[in-house]
Amino acid sequence: MVTVRPLHPSDRKAVLEVARALALWFRPLDQMALVIDLMRHEGFVAEEGEQVVGFATFHQPTPDQAQLSWLGVRPEWHGQGVGSRLLGAVERALRRRGVRFLRVMTVDEQVAEPAFALTRHFYERHRFRAVGREPDAFGQGRHGVVLEKTLV
Ligand SMILES: CC(C)(COP(=O)(O)OP(=O)(O)OC[C@H]1O[C@@H](n2cnc3c(N)ncnc32)[C@H](O)[C@@H]1OP(=O)(O)O)[C@@H](O)C(=O)NCCC(=O)NCCS
Repeated sequence: MVTVRPLHPSDRKAVLEVARALALWFRPLDQMALVIDLMRHEGFVAEEGEQVVGFATFHQPTPDQAQLSWLGVRPEWHGQGVGSRLLGAVERALRRRGVRFLRVMTVDEQVAEPAFALTRHFYERHRFRAVGREPDAFGQGRHGVVLEKTLV
C-alpha cells in the first residue's frame, strides 16, 4: 500500500534515486538543481513499505501563489495514481494556507520529446491551463510552458 507523508531532510538520498530513475525527464543538470531545491522547498513523498516511490516539492513565492517545483514517480509505478495523490497532498496543504494559484513549468509541446506529452496530459487532467511560455527555460532549446491551476 502506498502512503503519502511530508518530506523530511533524511529523504533526500531516496528522492535523488527516484529522480535518477527518471533520466528521460530529468537530465543531470536538472538533478543538480533538485539537490538545491530539496534543501529549501517543502514537499511530500510516496512510500511503498520502506521504499520512496515518488515525491513532490513546492514553494510559495507570494501569499497568493505557489509553484510546484518537482514531481516524480518511479517508472514502474507510473499510471497507478501515485502522482495524483502527491499532487493532491500539495494542493490540500496550500488550500489550508489560503493559496489560490498553483503553477508548474514543464517542457513545451514545441519540443519533440514524447515523454513530456504524457506529463502535459497529466497536468491537463488535473485542470492546469497554459498561462505563458518561457523560451529555452530548460536549456539546449527546450522551451517551457507555464501551467496554472486555481485552487478552489
Ligand atoms: C507525471 C507523473 C508525475 C504522473 O504520475 P503518475 O503516478 O504516473 O500518474 P497518475 O497515475 O496519478 O495519473 C495518471 C494520468 O497521468 C497520465 N500520465 C502522465 N505521465 C504518465 C506516465 N509516464 N505513465 C503513465 N501515465 C502517465 C496518464 O495518461 C493518466 O491520465 P489518463 O487517465 O487520462 O490516461 C509521472 O508519470 C512521472 O513521474 N513522470 C515523469 C516525470 C515528470 O514528467 N514529472 C513532471 C515534470 S514537470
